[in-house]
Amino acid sequence: MPMNDQDKLKQQVGKAAADYIRPHLRKDSIVGVGTGSTANYFIDALAEIKHTFDGTVASSTVSEERLKSHGIPVFELNNIKNMMFYVDGADETNDKFELIKGGGGALTREKIVSSVADQFICIVDESKIVDTLGAYPLPIEVIPMARSAVARQLVKLGGRPVYREGFITDNGNIILDVSDLHIKDAPGLERQINQITGVVTNGLFASKPADLLFVGTPNGVDIRR
Ligand code: A5P
Repeated sequence: MPMNDQDKLKQQVGKAAADYIRPHLRKDSIVGVGTGSTANYFIDALAEIKHTFDGTVASSTVSEERLKSHGIPVFELNNIKNMMFYVDGADETNDKFELIKGGGGALTREKIVSSVADQFICIVDESKIVDTLGAYPLPIEVIPMARSAVARQLVKLGGRPVYREGFITDNGNIILDVSDLHIKDAPGLERQINQITGVVTNGLFASKPADLLFVGTPNGVDIRR
């Protein structure tokens, strides 16, 4: 199938992230790997340099399979002490590098793996850049029995939660996608939603935003710090 323009930007930015980390990698380095179509292009680019580092930690079973299909070692996070980089896409990002993630449902493992990395490099095509987060429905991973109770609390916060039918996360939970949130204080809302009993994680990455943003544009990759 021919690649569309957006896929070309995703591929370009995935390759740029691999090029960026390459000079920093050593034989014992571990790279954290995200999930999604942009992260997939990063994985493909990482395959080209797989002999320059030790291995990876994956944020989903899907990414783990793709990494292994390229012959790239994947380790358990529990067995890892240091991680130099975490590289992942996003569904939205603002100019503070605060993110909405979880369109692919891997937000909890993404947040865990990114939390241990020295540097979180977010790779996006330019369509992901917004002034205010929240046009993209905010994914929230919820313990199944708490689905309705959590949904009622989210309505009180002004959101419109929708159950992601037929989807179970890698952790055995469900996802609520919350529309109608116009997010002015992303770290505040991230904390507030995490306080709701039954919520595992929400897709706001704002208390710990990305450190570097790679933006794929038709004129090349724009690296923002
Ligand atoms: C996966 O759970 C998500 O957080 C993805 O990283 C995010 O949805 C970006 O995906 P794409 O690169 O496919 O747009």
